[in-house]
Amino acid sequence: MAVDVVVVGGGLVGLTTALLVRRAGAGSVAVVEARRLGEGTTGGTTGKVTSQHGLVYAQMIDRHGEDHARMYAEANQAGVELVATLTGEYGIDCDLTRAPALAYTRDPGRRRTVEEEAAAAGRLGLPASLVESVDLPFEVEAAVRFGNQLHFHAGRYVAGLAAALSAAGVAVFEHTRVLDVEEHRDGTARVRTAAATVRANHVVMATLLPIGTIGGYFAKTRPTRSFGLAARLRGPAPQEMTISVDSPTRSTRPWLDPGPNGLIVVGNGHDTGTEQDTQAMGEDLEQWTRSTFDVDSVDYRWSSQDYTTADHVPYIGRSPMNDRILVATGFKKWGLSSGGAAALILGDLIAGHDSPWLPVFDATRIGDAKAVGQLIKDNLKVGADLDRLRSHHGRDLAPGHDGVIDVDGDTVGAYRDEAGGLHAVRLACTHLGCRLCWNAAETSWDCACHGSRFDIDGNILNGPAVEALPTVNLSP
Ligand SMILES: Cc1cc2nc3c(=O)[nH]c(=O)nc-3n(C[C@H](O)[C@H](O)[C@H](O)COP(=O)(O)OP(=O)(O)OC[C@H]3O[C@@H](n4cnc5c(N)ncnc54)[C@H](O)[C@@H]3O)c2cc1C
Ligand code: FES
Repeated sequence: MAVDVVVVGGGLVGLTTALLVRRAGAGSVAVVEARRLGEGTTGGTTGKVTSQHGLVYAQMIDRHGEDHARMYAEANQAGVELVATLTGEYGIDCDLTRAPALAYTRDPGRRRTVEEEAAAAGRLGLPASLVESVDLPFEVEAAVRFGNQLHFHAGRYVAGLAAALSAAGVAVFEHTRVLDVEEHRDGTARVRTAAATVRANHVVMATLLPIGTIGGYFAKTRPTRSFGLAARLRGPAPQEMTISVDSPTRSTRPWLDPGPNGLIVVGNGHDTGTEQDTQAMGEDLEQWTRSTFDVDSVDYRWSSQDYTTADHVPYIGRSPMNDRILVATGFKKWGLSSGGAAALILGDLIAGHDSPWLPVFDATRIGDAKAVGQLIKDNLKVGADLDRLRSHHGRDLAPGHDGVIDVDGDTVGAYRDEAGGLHAVRLACTHLGCRLCWNAAETSWDCACHGSRFDIDGNILNGPAVEALPTVNLSP
């Protein structure tokens, strides 16, 4: 079987790219998704579509110059407007709403930094201003306000893109995990799944992080997760989108489902797969929400993951060593705008055009070699830290508890579910072998090295791993 363009991954990036390349005239386009469309990070996002990514522009100008920062700003503003355009063109019902985005500090010591950011963003042509109050029930020291940004229901937007793809004749394969992508000696690429191998002129790796070892991106990015919740307040919720620049991060936006009282809150970012009390972190976010707002109910709770690159700019474009494989990764929790930019850049490259923004995002860049080196060192250290073994016997586990057991020299992770069932898996990550760590908040086995995650029966929740964990039969 041969296809012009295969897009691997059915999140915002994959679906937008598939639509743009099809509209630009690609002969045949297929999307291959391991789970259901939108079930990855796109389904666990806050839903802010904005070129305001915390405080980034002043520092970017300092480090890379004004032209570089302007390209980053333009690309992300284009990503924002792409969402508005596609929503309008396809009549997507996704609660798309214009609202300002504010990044604020409560710390007088940070006032200067916020002022500099407002000035820098304004110089780059972004709709930025400095303000001293935000739509939150507390005082702030200063905030950068970006006008005319967007928020939306990401799941409904994905559903709208899926309908547009179907109408455009793009084939979508859900529940199909890609196991490998490689360049063939005839110059095309091969995409391998358990059922078939497909030949493609171009393959877009839109899997949050490229799978396996493609391009070495696993070693040049850091996975982190954050908690989110959707609450109903007893009165009207803030209608602006806000994010603290102080730690811990607190990000809010209106949640329109229940009407004007709905609020989404996201925060407590943390490294994936480390021995932290994830349950306490989720509870802490809820506690902050309840102590800050008059909360009637918390209706949904979740956690989600994204990757950050060494220089905090996503890698978008051709993968090193392989012209046929294109990648988009390292969105630093801002992939709803940068993901649109990625789709525009990748669409241009596939159509054989240059992209004006490529110099900033170029996926073959080495970037700041010192920062990349530090990231790789951190990865190695994380692997070593995990080498602590808790001894336990599976049969002693109480319902709702996990344990790490030595079985004939193999480290096995066991979990007893609330119904008394025992689930046991080998704890060597199937990506590159790092030891997995228990995530109590999400009852999963997580890898600190590059962010792969597995459920209690070893099924993959997050790549770059492409193989499930082997299960182990422990006597109950
Ligand atoms: C808590 C949180 C809040 C966020 N809030 C915002 C926000 O407000 N604004 C913003 O701009 N950004 C936000 N982000 C970031 C943004 O959501 C992501 O950057 C963006 O959704 C990434 O889209 P994607 O398509 O690259 O990845 P995903 O949506 O994760 O899609 C990747 C897809 O690839 C599939 N896949 C993986 N491996 C394989 C394989 N081997 N074969 C086939 N398919 C595979 C996955 O199942 C998944 O569906 C947030 C991130 C987090 C974690
Ligand atoms: S994700 Fe790479 S070793 Fe686990």
